Amino acid sequence: MPKTVLITGANRGVGLELLKQIYGFGFRCVGGYRDPDRAAELLRMQADDPERVIALPCDVSSAESLQSMAAALEPRVDSVDILINNAGVLYRDEKSGETLQRAELQNSLDVNLIGPILTTQTFLPFLRRGTLKKLVFISSIMGSIDLNNSGSLPSYRISKAALNQFCRGMAFELASEGIVTLAIHPGWARTDMGGPQATLAVAESAGGIIEVMRQAAVDTHNGRFFDYAGRELEW
Ligand SMILES: NC(=O)c1ccc[n+]([C@@H]2O[C@H](COP(=O)([O-])OP(=O)(O)OC[C@H]3O[C@@H](n4cnc5c(N)ncnc54)[C@H](OP(=O)(O)O)[C@@H]3O)[C@@H](O)[C@H]2O)c1
Repeated sequence: MPKTVLITGANRGVGLELLKQIYGFGFRCVGGYRDPDRAAELLRMQADDPERVIALPCDVSSAESLQSMAAALEPRVDSVDILINNAGVLYRDEKSGETLQRAELQNSLDVNLIGPILTTQTFLPFLRRGTLKKLVFISSIMGSIDLNNSGSLPSYRISKAALNQFCRGMAFELASEGIVTLAIHPGWARTDMGGPQATLAVAESAGGIIEVMRQAAVDTHNGRFFDYAGRELEW
């Protein structure tokens, strides 16, 4: 039986590239998407290889959606080896803490913080039954308090900083079960979020993330924050 990875936000950007590369390593890949009209490539992969690509509707901000995904998965997949909390949102026009809008802060928290919390809670039983036992949060260097030297994009920074705190806490909760929990910054990658000026091709970002995940072990990586190149970041 192949190892299984579950990735949220797997229809485009870093999530889709992670899924494609991990599929190439022989894994069974479960990918969440919200809108089939934005998930053509993921759905095509599923049509080509339904045994190893399972695409399921998943809005991480909705507990009902996550429960439906888990219910759909249950009869087909016994365990998840790597759970990658990847889905995220960024309001790029947000300029300052003084002017940030409540609705944007709320949605940033719903997707970037509460989403990964609910996803982790929903799929922990699957992860516990897996063998690799890796719990990954795709965070951002912008969530680092130590490394923040600008006021821009406060909703995003706040949501990722809080996500980092959840990650760190879960690392302590789960280590005794052999689950390694870590946060990874994908670098500045050319996706819809990263934009065309970003310095990294998405393939390089995803390839680096996969290498960090491959090396991740409780003794060396648990409760820590790395970038896609394996460099440790300050919280
Ligand atoms: N790109 C960068 O330079 C960069 C840098 C640092 C960190 N990151 C982080 O890397 C992760 C991936 O970013 P990306 O660059 O690939 O962004 P992206 O191209 O904008 O893709 C975002 C993904 O998240 C999904 N998503 C958004 N809201 C969702 C929700 N409520 N439920 C489920 N899925 C949802 C999107 O699905 P839809 O198509 O349905 O919207 C899409 O699949 C994010 O966590 C981001 O914060 C990216």
